Amino acid sequence: MPIVSLTNVSKTYPSRSHGEPEVVAVDDVTLDIDQGDVYGIIGYSGAGKSTLVRLINALEPATSGTITVDGVDLTTLGERELRRVRGGIGMIFQQFNLFSSRTVRSNVAYPLTLAGWSKPDIEARVTELLSFVGLSDKAKAYPEQLSGGQKQRVGIARALATKPAILLADEATSALDPQTTHEVLDLLKRVNEEQGVTIVVITHEMDVIQTIATKVAVMENGRVIERGDVFDVFSAPQNPASQRFVGTVVKGVPSPSELAVLRERHRGRLVTFSFRDGDSSQAQVFLDLAAAGLDFELVYGGINDIRGRAFGHLTLAIRGDSSAIDRALTTIGERVDVTVIAAEEAR
Ligand SMILES: Nc1ncnc2c1ncn2[C@@H]1O[C@H](COP(=O)(O)OP(=O)(O)OP(=O)(O)O)[C@@H](O)[C@H]1O
Ligand SMILES: [Mg+2]
Repeated sequence: MPIVSLTNVSKTYPSRSHGEPEVVAVDDVTLDIDQGDVYGIIGYSGAGKSTLVRLINALEPATSGTITVDGVDLTTLGERELRRVRGGIGMIFQQFNLFSSRTVRSNVAYPLTLAGWSKPDIEARVTELLSFVGLSDKAKAYPEQLSGGQKQRVGIARALATKPAILLADEATSALDPQTTHEVLDLLKRVNEEQGVTIVVITHEMDVIQTIATKVAVMENGRVIERGDVFDVFSAPQNPASQRFVGTVVKGVPSPSELAVLRERHRGRLVTFSFRDGDSSQAQVFLDLAAAGLDFELVYGGINDIRGRAFGHLTLAIRGDSSAIDRALTTIGERVDVTVIAAEEAR
């Protein structure tokens, strides 16, 4: 049974000024998140990702549809019961949202005080949490004395204090450098694996998804346009809009401006070959082209690694008799994905 289940959920905001249409921030989303998932939600700015998270967190009511968290239908609950649901969901933020006037220890203790824990229990739990996030020696420090990564580790300790089953992370590493991002992601991985916490990560960073997510949903204009296993969605997106989005974040796919440069610089038909692990080798593509008497040049490429599985893209400029190129691509296309990205002869 999914731990979070959304069925035909929409969220509409009133228009900002008179005469403007209302804003459909989340549009008819149906999505299940299973216990133990690290579920990534990606999409361009304004796609509705943060709104979706606020609905799951019961910070705002949905306009229509049903949301169940841990089997409880949020739409049926009153404010007091909603508060209890929120207690079962931890949240971390891009800007950490720590209390600057409180020590690290006091920041982590805060939700426990609110929840009415006894002093000795709070003491023990905070000590345990600070040890888990590797900040035992910073208990008496204030947030301003910490690095960004340390602040986010305090944020994670605080979010986990009341032992929530779900952790929501909205751009939690977007303010951090790549090295620190990886430290925080490693910690989130441990939260998931060692404590069994289900994690929802919202991000625009491919790196975050490929490092920790097991599943991913792509949002556009309030809708979930594609979802599934991370490797499948990133290596072979089906929806044209998610192909566009995924193309901007995976390595090896030339952007429109890079493509313009390639067309300027290389003669011939520009063709992108997409490989997934298990596909026959790139070398076979080169052999097939050579056997067809075609001249070709490697002009662009890149490999992506998603939790130990690889996929990548190579773009070649192929020159020769047009029908010979067609025949070779048909043969190759039976084994690997072939996309002609510029058919006409470049200068
Ligand atoms: N409280 C609000 N009132 C009115 N409109 C809102 C409100 N919150 C969000 N919106 C609108 O809803 C849409 C979705 O916003 P949301 O913040 O969920 O996007 P996002 O995917 O998180 O974007 P980003 O990547 O920039 O954080 C946007 O058009 C936004 O302007
Ligand atoms: Mg957002």
